[in-house]
Amino acid sequence: MNEQNIDLVIFGGLGDLAGRKLLPALYQIERAGLLSDRIRLAVVAREPIETKGFLDYLEKRLREDLSDDDWSTVTWQKLARRFSYLSMDFSNKKHFSVLQGWLTPDRMVGYYLATPPSLFGSISQHLNAAGCIDGSSRIVLEKPIGHDLSSSKVVNDTVARYFSERNIYRIDHYLGKETVQNLLALRFANRLINSQWDNTCIDHVQITVSETVGIEGRWEYYDQVGQLRDMVQNHLLQLLCMVAMEPPNSFEADEIRAEKIKILRALTLIDADAVEHSSVRGQYAAGWITGNPVMGYTEESGCTDLGSSTETFVAVKAHIDNWRWSGVPFYLRTGKRLAEKSTQIVIAYKNQPHAIFPDRQAIGSNRLVIRLQPNEGIQLEMASKKQTLKDRLSLEKRLLNLDFFDTKGEDRIPDAYERLLLEVFKGDQWLFVSREEIEASWSWCDHLITAWQEKASKVHRYSAGSTGPSKAELLIERDGRSWFGESEG
Ligand code: BG6
Repeated sequence: MNEQNIDLVIFGGLGDLAGRKLLPALYQIERAGLLSDRIRLAVVAREPIETKGFLDYLEKRLREDLSDDDWSTVTWQKLARRFSYLSMDFSNKKHFSVLQGWLTPDRMVGYYLATPPSLFGSISQHLNAAGCIDGSSRIVLEKPIGHDLSSSKVVNDTVARYFSERNIYRIDHYLGKETVQNLLALRFANRLINSQWDNTCIDHVQITVSETVGIEGRWEYYDQVGQLRDMVQNHLLQLLCMVAMEPPNSFEADEIRAEKIKILRALTLIDADAVEHSSVRGQYAAGWITGNPVMGYTEESGCTDLGSSTETFVAVKAHIDNWRWSGVPFYLRTGKRLAEKSTQIVIAYKNQPHAIFPDRQAIGSNRLVIRLQPNEGIQLEMASKKQTLKDRLSLEKRLLNLDFFDTKGEDRIPDAYERLLLEVFKGDQWLFVSREEIEASWSWCDHLITAWQEKASKVHRYSAGSTGPSKAELLIERDGRSWFGESEG
């Protein structure tokens, strides 16, 4: 690994992801003084503009997005000097000579494909044909890698022809989030937590990723995908792995990945007999979010199928078939156009084996609530004696709070892409998803999709701005439990 001599080439550098995430992330890394002086950056896109035109666009965009406090002219000048803009048509292999002319033989290169996945194969092929790849070249791929197991294999096989697995960086941006990495600290740096992390102490786990956004102009794409493929196959299953995996031998990429893959392979497959009790699908109808009316899924612009049954919400009860988690359900839930934007993991502990306090049951058992976004923090719900003369020994629920979200300046919470780009420069894959993980996740999801098809399982409508279909409440209430935040949270 030599992070000093690496050049990063962003394909799709004028696109949405680059503008919203990658280029601002590079600015922040520069501002933090973490971008080695020797790193060069190239942005590749079709538009016939010069580097100067690109820099005008980027400066304007960054100034619009950043607060005055965040803007630094010195940082901008330093960053701007690194950039070259290369106007190229990616589908035309002859154009790759432009890139070839920019590369220098003694330097390592990383290619970030912020492009539609359908181009991963042809771009890799053209890079190879133009002599732009050697044994050290890295490639960074955005999700989705395929839309099921077999198509993901095709993508992985194609890219593997030109890049070795140790040089392929598959992004799941949730792994770049500070609070997701903090799960490792919470679990493995705290004996108190780690010693209570199994089926003897934990009753169940909830992972909720609730979004207020809809499908953001991607109707046609999203309709082929749905929330299971868009969110569960990657982000929610990665969160589940971070909660459930055994302590890795170290934080080396191979060690972490080996533990995650064991969890993915231990997930019980949900077949047609179990599917109705183990999962719920929903689709949003018109409603209100923060006081504004929003359209239903099939009223969104770009809709080409008024009868679409694609799910925009999914709740699943998953089981991990191993020693630590036997008998502990993991309830996963995610949806678009819900009441609030929030990602949280709730670890619900078992009750004390014997109730000495008459009201212990009433205040519920301990819960550890890990808020990943927004208001990042960790909260432990504890039972405590009520400070009163009136009652002798009655209980109330009190909270131990650890907040991360009110930090500023040096301690600002970095965006996921800042961390991920830094790791690409360093050549460390610990926050990237291996081929095996992708394939194991797809196997589990494919099985569930087949079960839905076999049972012709219903897609329940829910109002935008709600917490999803009422059937999702039933999914957990049937087991005598409830979603955190609803009914008692
Ligand atoms: C993306 C999905 O991977 O993650 C989007 O394709 C989703 O549909 C987004 O909205 C959510 O990311 P975050 O970081 O805003 O929770």
